[in-house]
Amino acid sequence: MYKKIIRPILFRFSAERTHAMTAWGLRLAGRLPVVRSVVKRMFTLSDPRLEREVLGMKFTNPVGLAAGFDKDASLYRELPMLGLGFVEVGTVTPLPQPGNPQPRLFRLPKDRALINRMGFNNRGMANAADNLRSRQRGGMEPPGGGHPTPVVGINIGKNTLTPPAEAPADYLKLFRRLYDFGDYFVVNVSCPNVAGLASMQTEEHLLEIVEPMLEFRRGQNDYKPILVKISPDLSWAEIDEVIKVVTGTLVDGIVAVNTTTEREGLHISRKKLDAIGRGGLSGGPLTRRALEVVRYVHEKTGGGYPIIASGGVMTVDDALAMLDAGADLVQIYTGLIYNGPGFARKICKALLKKES
Ligand SMILES: Cc1cc2nc3c(=O)[nH]c(=O)nc-3n(C[C@H](O)[C@H](O)[C@H](O)COP(=O)(O)O)c2cc1C
Repeated sequence: MYKKIIRPILFRFSAERTHAMTAWGLRLAGRLPVVRSVVKRMFTLSDPRLEREVLGMKFTNPVGLAAGFDKDASLYRELPMLGLGFVEVGTVTPLPQPGNPQPRLFRLPKDRALINRMGFNNRGMANAADNLRSRQRGGMEPPGGGHPTPVVGINIGKNTLTPPAEAPADYLKLFRRLYDFGDYFVVNVSCPNVAGLASMQTEEHLLEIVEPMLEFRRGQNDYKPILVKISPDLSWAEIDEVIKVVTGTLVDGIVAVNTTTEREGLHISRKKLDAIGRGGLSGGPLTRRALEVVRYVHEKTGGGYPIIASGGVMTVDDALAMLDAGADLVQIYTGLIYNGPGFARKICKALLKKES
């Protein structure tokens, strides 16, 4: 029904407009008890066999939403209705910023892909803290109650106008301000749409960012895991540098991977691709590389560090392959757009089948 009827209608609108409509629909569904319970029944699958203990916390299932969908942490209560075991909100920056001019999000249906150059559009950390505050006060129950609260991760990034030398201060500000509101934190240094950001994935720059964060965490009562999100465009040697930082400090894990600037092997015409312009590519064309990176990181770290797989999970088999390659959890984004709201449940169903 989604692919035959709903998706063709949604795809008539611009990608960003569809996103806004989806957010509106989710909020509305969250407010109407009958709709909410129908949606929940349709899309969620609760089974103790799906539960995972990762990063020192319990996930109701290993399928989460990747960063970028809920940039302002304004939908984390509603999104679990779609069967997600966790939601990564953000990227949140210290100050609000508009992001790049529209259009900045494009569909590539023949490739089951998206290209985006959103540029960290978000309302800033004070707004995110306000939105997440109810969690801290024990208001963690999603609309309708009953369903266990999903884990909420917060993905953080520097403001576009912050010069590279001041980037570590941005990350520290975000970590301090949002510390009480997230279950885990992701240092995003891999978005290709913020100039100079990806160059912070070197050992030197990463240490400059994470060491003050680790220092701050040492003084806190609660332990909040810190992960680093990496680009699929890094060479093996560059990935080794990130691994060195993770294994050499108390950084807890890796999110692999962000979007790619690669354009090899796409079905879309050269002309259309040129008209779209720069941006990060996600979805189908990313599957192979993401899997390869997850496997590499898993092998290099001896399986000792949690890996959240993100990138090109477009089918149930892609999700299972990521978990087989060593991922502890998987995230979906483009796959959700192309498969519809039942995608997480489908993956969970396959996991149960595999286990039985
Ligand atoms: C429209 C859009 C916005 C995104 N924004 C962010 C972001 O703000 N921060 C981030 O770390 N990743 C962001 N991503 C990357 C996703 O979190 C994910 O890593 C990437 O899309 C690969 O997964 P996928 O192939 O399942 O979509 C964004 C992706 C898309 C499509």
